[in-house]
Amino acid sequence: MQTLIIVVLSVALLLAVIKIFTAKQPAQASGTDAAINNIMTRTSVRSYTNEPVTDAQIETMLRAGMAAPSAVNKQPWKFVVVKNREKLKEIADSIGPSRAAAGAACVIAVCGDMTKTLDGVGRDFWIHDCSAATENILLAANALGLGAVWMGIFPDQNRVRTARALLDIPENQEVLCFIAIGHPAEKPTPKDKWKPENYRIIE
Ligand SMILES: Cc1cc2nc3c(=O)[nH]c(=O)nc-3n(C[C@H](O)[C@H](O)[C@H](O)COP(=O)(O)O)c2cc1C
Repeated sequence: MQTLIIVVLSVALLLAVIKIFTAKQPAQASGTDAAINNIMTRTSVRSYTNEPVTDAQIETMLRAGMAAPSAVNKQPWKFVVVKNREKLKEIADSIGPSRAAAGAACVIAVCGDMTKTLDGVGRDFWIHDCSAATENILLAANALGLGAVWMGIFPDQNRVRTARALLDIPENQEVLCFIAIGHPAEKPTPKDKWKPENYRIIE
C-alpha cells in the first residue's frame, strides 16, 4: 500500500513538473507592442522642466526624422536645432499661438529644401515628406521620455517669413513647423481619437 502511495505521488509530482515546463508563458511585450504603445501614448506636451535635452537625444530624434519615408526618396528636409535660450524666447514671442517654445529645452525647425523637391505637381510632396519626419521626431521624443509639440508654421506666410528671419533660413527653404521639446512638466492624458465612423474597408 505504502509503495502504491509513493508511486502515485511520484507520478503526480512528475505530471506537475511537466505541466509547469510546458505551460504557455505569458506574452512578453514584444517590439511591436512597444512601438504601438509609443504611438498610442504620444500626446502634445507644452510645459517643460529646466532639465536639458542631451546632444545624444537630439541626434536620436534627428535620426528618427531622417528615417521617414519621402516621395521618390528625395529626403527634401533640413532641420535647425535651437538650444539658445534667447532665441527660444524670441521664437515664443514672435510665433503664436503656442508659447511652448519659451520653456522648451530646444526647438527643431523642420524645413523643406525646395532644391530637392520633385518638379511640377510633385513639388508639394515636400509637405508629406516633412510631416512624416515631424511625426517621427515626435514619436522618438515620446520614446525617450521627452515631451514635444508640433507648432505649425507653413502655410501661414507671415509665420514662414518670421521663422526664416529668426533662424536665418534661406529663401529656397520652406518652414513647415517648429517642434518644441523638453522634459515634461505636465502629463496630459493621451486623447482617445478612435472613431469607427472615420474608416471603411473595401473587401
Ligand atoms: C499641423 C499642426 C499644427 C499644429 N500647430 C500647433 C500650434 O501652433 N500650437 C500648439 O500648441 N499645438 C499645435 N499643434 C498640436 C495640436 O494642437 C495637437 O496635435 C492636437 O490638439 C491633438 O492633440 P495631441 O497631439 O495631444 O494628440 C499642431 C498640430 C499639427 C498637426
